[in-house]
Amino acid sequence: MRAVRFHEHGGPEVLTVEEIPRPAPDADEVLVDVDAAAINPVDTYFREGGYDPGELPWIPGSDCAGTVAEVGADVDGYDEGDRVFATGLGNWLQGACAEYAVVPESHLAYLPDGVDFETGAAIALVGVTAWQTLVDACSLEPGERALIHGGSGGVGHVAVQLAAATGARVTTTAAPEYHDRLRALGADDVFDYRREDLEDAVVEAGRPDVIVDHRLDDYLSFDVDVAAQSARIAAMGNTDPAATFENVPQCRAKDVSVHHVSMFNTPDFGAVLGRLANLLEDGDLTAEVADTYHLVEVADAQEAVMSESFLGKLVVTP
Ligand SMILES: NC(=O)c1ccc[n+]([C@@H]2O[C@H](COP(=O)([O-])OP(=O)(O)OC[C@H]3O[C@@H](n4cnc5c(N)ncnc54)[C@H](OP(=O)(O)O)[C@@H]3O)[C@@H](O)[C@H]2O)c1
Repeated sequence: MRAVRFHEHGGPEVLTVEEIPRPAPDADEVLVDVDAAAINPVDTYFREGGYDPGELPWIPGSDCAGTVAEVGADVDGYDEGDRVFATGLGNWLQGACAEYAVVPESHLAYLPDGVDFETGAAIALVGVTAWQTLVDACSLEPGERALIHGGSGGVGHVAVQLAAATGARVTTTAAPEYHDRLRALGADDVFDYRREDLEDAVVEAGRPDVIVDHRLDDYLSFDVDVAAQSARIAAMGNTDPAATFENVPQCRAKDVSVHHVSMFNTPDFGAVLGRLANLLEDGDLTAEVADTYHLVEVADAQEAVMSESFLGKLVVTP
């Protein structure tokens, strides 16, 4: 099969497309004929070596959608030909930027018939992350207010929809060109993150009970300043490794809690993907695919996810 691989850590130039043997699934795994895989910022951390994915050479790509081509001896939930989507790959498990990917049964769910493979791949990792932050870390309830920083991002645009589907009021931030589309996805209040009076605008919209923060080093103190009493912050990303509170007594007074989330720690990927599939089937959730790339263009896609502005996700079609 054709697969993107890197044999050493480094820049996008270490990614090459190679002809390698098609892998066989172990007893608890299925082989997926990949129709689409998605690009995530974490692919670049594994490639650069900031995170250690496993023993090189390595195939990047954390999520995929496609058709089951082969099932392991102990797999009883899936058959050849089933449409599926998966995540949790590319870290400890070889990734999905290839014609086929081996996936543990626990990392899969059925993809509803009406949902195309690109959407399935695009939503897997970011959908599970949105679920882990809003539902598991923060127990978001109907009628509460959620603040989603960076609503046009991969995680952001799904978190906006998931929070809205939960019955929460949604505040989000994004560049102005995305505001109308974010309102259409369910945001109640959308603000330019470059606004000088952003804090006032967020507070005026309603102090958030739940905050999803993908840039902790920029926003941790902001979060506490705008937070409602007993707010929960889901900490999912940063650009600088250090992030601090400027006013710890305020955290105590507001009884603020911070829960650091790693998508790869999700105890049951398949269960969360199954819930996302229900929402996809009912039309309550979708993934916006901003651009698609071929296997030979994965280096360009990894560069683009870190440097270009777009709403939604970048997808690879092998
Ligand atoms: N902990 C986890 O499990 C987990 C899971 C997934 C992702 N993450 C991390 O979370 C971050 C976001 O991931 P992603 O997949 O959503 O990335 P993404 O698709 O690249 O989205 C990032 C978003 O941040 C926006 N942004 C840039 N500067 C901003 C600012 N100053 N204030 C607010 N928003 C700003 C970008 O908007 P513009 O287009 O306008 O620049 C873009 O929409 C990454 O650091 C990623 O590694 C963590």
